Amino acid sequence: MEIFEAIHGRTTVSKVKQDELSRDIIEKLLSAGAQAPNHHKVRPWRFVVLTGDGRKKLGDVMSASFLDRNPGAPTEGVDKIRALPLRAPVVIAVGADKPADTKIIEVENISAASAACQNILLAAHALGLGAIWRTGEWARDAKVKEFFGFAEDQHIIGFIYVGHPDVMPDPYTRVGFEDRVTWVE
Ligand SMILES: Cc1cc2nc3c(=O)[nH]c(=O)nc-3n(C[C@H](O)[C@H](O)[C@H](O)COP(=O)(O)O)c2cc1C
Repeated sequence: MEIFEAIHGRTTVSKVKQDELSRDIIEKLLSAGAQAPNHHKVRPWRFVVLTGDGRKKLGDVMSASFLDRNPGAPTEGVDKIRALPLRAPVVIAVGADKPADTKIIEVENISAASAACQNILLAAHALGLGAIWRTGEWARDAKVKEFFGFAEDQHIIGFIYVGHPDVMPDPYTRVGFEDRVTWVE
């Protein structure tokens, strides 16, 4: 797929089928993520790939964390949270490393990991897959971070939910750049 076609043609697909993705396909996505630019060659992205029952483990952590914060919450609500990671056959959590050296700037690591997320979205689109970049409260949840092996002050940049498209969104045109640019000549 041509690069401009990929960039302009990609849309978020939140409803995907449960059909599993092969390891080969998932690794293609990770490989695209790992081509992102990054300062000082620190490769600050951390990918945690959840498939099959791995998604259930995350759901258990999320629902337990929710119950800790909301004791006595109705079971129905807790069950809904537990099921959130099951919305796609593959969930890729992307974390950003904390700077390990004074010359490394945290926002640059976050920027690089964000670029990795976009690369994954574009690669998924080029492979005919559907994907959505999600965060929500779970990206800031201490128990979720612990489950991934991340430090409490480490940032989760996103959860990329990916699978074969089920329901395609209605076509729409993104707003252009014109009101977001200043030309200095
Ligand atoms: C950092 C980040 C976090 C996001 N978190 C969510 C989210 O938790 N839930 C959601 O529905 N959309 C979320 N979105 C928005 C979607 O990923 C998507 O970009 C948006 O719906 C626009 O659709 P498009 O990608 O087709 O332009 C997030 C986007 C970004 C960049």
